[in-house]
Parts: sequence; C-alpha cells; structure tokens
Amino acid sequence: MFTFSSLDLPIIVAPMAGGPSTPELVAAVADVGGTGFVPAGYLDATAMTDKIRATRKLTDRPFGVNLFVPNDDEVDGTALDAYRATLQPVADRFGVELPQHRHDDEDFAAKIAALQRDPVAFVSFTFGLPDRSVIEPLQSAAIAVGATVTSLDEARAAAAVGYDFLVVQGPEAGGHRGTHHASTTPDDTPLLPLLAQVVAEIDLPVIAAGGLIEAPAIADALSLADAVQLGTAYLLATEAGTSAIHRAALQDQRFTETVTTRCFTGRPARALRNTFTTEFTDAPAAYPAVHQITQPLRKAAAAAGDAHYVHLWAGTGWRATVSAPAADITKALWARVAPLVSAD
Ligand SMILES: Cc1cc2nc3c(=O)[nH]c(=O)nc-3n(C[C@H](O)[C@H](O)[C@H](O)COP(=O)(O)O)c2cc1C
Repeated sequence: MFTFSSLDLPIIVAPMAGGPSTPELVAAVADVGGTGFVPAGYLDATAMTDKIRATRKLTDRPFGVNLFVPNDDEVDGTALDAYRATLQPVADRFGVELPQHRHDDEDFAAKIAALQRDPVAFVSFTFGLPDRSVIEPLQSAAIAVGATVTSLDEARAAAAVGYDFLVVQGPEAGGHRGTHHASTTPDDTPLLPLLAQVVAEIDLPVIAAGGLIEAPAIADALSLADAVQLGTAYLLATEAGTSAIHRAALQDQRFTETVTTRCFTGRPARALRNTFTTEFTDAPAAYPAVHQITQPLRKAAAAAGDAHYVHLWAGTGWRATVSAPAADITKALWARVAPLVSAD
C-alpha cells in the first residue's frame, strides 16, 4: 500500500474542486517527485473516472482522489428562504434566478464502487467520516484511505474508524474547512499547535494543510507531519484551471485580506474579502443548499467580470503565490525547504 514517506518530495498539491485542480497540475507535481489529489467534489462517477484516466495518461506516478462526503443534515427551509430573499436584489441586478435547493449525494456510492474496481494509490474524504463499510472495501483494493480532520476530536474519531492517514487542516487553509458537520463552528487552533496535539496522541501518518506557502512554515509542519498539502500555492500555476477572475483577484493589491465565511456555500470557507463576504454574513449552515442557491449568481458575476460576487478561495498565505509551471513552483519551494528540514 502507498505510503507518503515513500515520496521523493513530501509535497502534495491539494485537491481543489471546481476548476483549479486539473490532471495536468496533478501530473506535473507527481512527475517531480511530489504527488496530488484529483478532486471528485462536485463531479459524478463518470466525470471522476474521466479525470483519473486523463491524469494516468500524463503520469506513471502514484496519485490520489479526494471525495466530498454527502450529508443528510436537516435543512432549515425558513432560514434558506430568508437568505434567498437577502440575495434577491443582487440576483436581480445580474438577471439570474435563485434556484430551490435539491438533494445531491454527488453519486457517492457509484464513485466508491468505481474506485474499488479501478483503484488509485490513495483516497481522502472531506466533510465527513464514512464508516468501515465504506473504507474497508477501498483498503482491500490496496488504496490508502485518509480522512480530513480539523480538530483533535475529529482526528480521534477518524483513528477509531480505522483510517490509514489523516489530513490535518488548520484554519489558515484556503477554500472549505473540512469539518465533519456543516453546522460545526470550526476549531481555530492554528495548524502547528493542532498538528502537535494530533501527533502527540494519534499514531497515524499525517499530512499537514493550511496556509503553507513559505519555506519556514513548511519546514515546521514537516517536523511533525509526513507531508504537506498545498492549495493556494498552486492556484496561479500554469497548469491550474483557476478562472481568470480568480487569478486576477489573487494578484490584485485591492484585495487585502482573507475571511472565513459561509456566505457562498453554507459551509465555512476561506476566501478573499469582497463585497459578497462583507454583505452576506448571516448565511445558514446548510451545505450544499446554499452552494446551489448562490451558484447561478456567482457564475453570472464571473461572466460579467465582477469579482465582488465570486467565491475567491484563498489561504492566508495568498500574497506569496507565484505564477509559474507547477514543476518550477514545487522545485523552487523544495530548494528553500530542504536546507531547513535537513538542519533539524
Ligand atoms: C480553490 C480551492 C479548492 C479546494 N477544494 C478542495 C477540495 O475539493 N477538497 C478538499 O479536501 N480540500 C479542498 N481545498 C482545501 C485544500 O485541500 C487545503 O486544505 C488547502 O488548500 C490548504 O490551505 P492553503 O490553500 O493555504 O494551502 C481547496 C482549497 C482551495 C484553495
């Protein structure tokens, strides 16, 4: 079974669903000795399989797949209607209708079955903790199976189920917080102390994620973790599918900070502060319902070139993100990190 300690470089390009992660991005990092996750979030089983195939065509190196875990949380219809009403004036301005939310399990069972039939090296789950009935068949197919955790309690729960590795995500992370329940207020313990808590108690390989972009922080994380998972550091990579509006915003000095907000999807996620995050601070904790409701609005805003109504996911280190081929980003990063790690 795959182990992260077997990598030439302990650098993983994070799964970034919704466009930024492409087969080319994953393959480029894998080819220089790191690895990456193909994100299966927002995709059905066929689309996931297509992405896996496309990645395999580009690299012989091992890579993984990341899945969002569907939830059956009760949805507060009144709160959603109230949120839809607050958004209505903006929707009118962009000329879009805000849809009703619908049940969507993202084809979860079919994706698990497809991975069992045609395994990748490793799989991670985000937004929940599937039980043994889901993970054991994957493990039997020689897949290393990991859980994204955002607190010591979530790490304990994952260890009790029998996961092979943990992705410990700190509050600095760009994009969604991987809390196991949408309604959880995320733990705000910074990544390094959170990692220290987890490794002191739990004897599993650990991947560290969140705000990692500068060499000293990466070296610190690697003193506790087996590998680091970087998202924002690759958002401007040549091979990334990051939208033009997102790329421009990441380099626009007028965006001055990131915030954690439920306003775009109903789950806490870190993004550049813009008009949307400032105006809509009372979104209900309902995922994917809020994601579904706001999606046409965000698409229309992106098409109109208005970055203020788009989800501009970014981790706290976004200012250090560089535009370059992913292989160059990875090698340059490792050239700065390696002396710090070997000095330990
Ligand atoms: C644009 C974007 C999309 C993301 N999509 C996913 C995803 O599909 N699955 C997941 O587990 N994490 C996702 N994340 C979170 C990353 O896995 C990781 O925790 C985060 O990028 C680490 O923080 P950093 O962005 O500061 O490096 C995403 C992050 C970003 C920036």
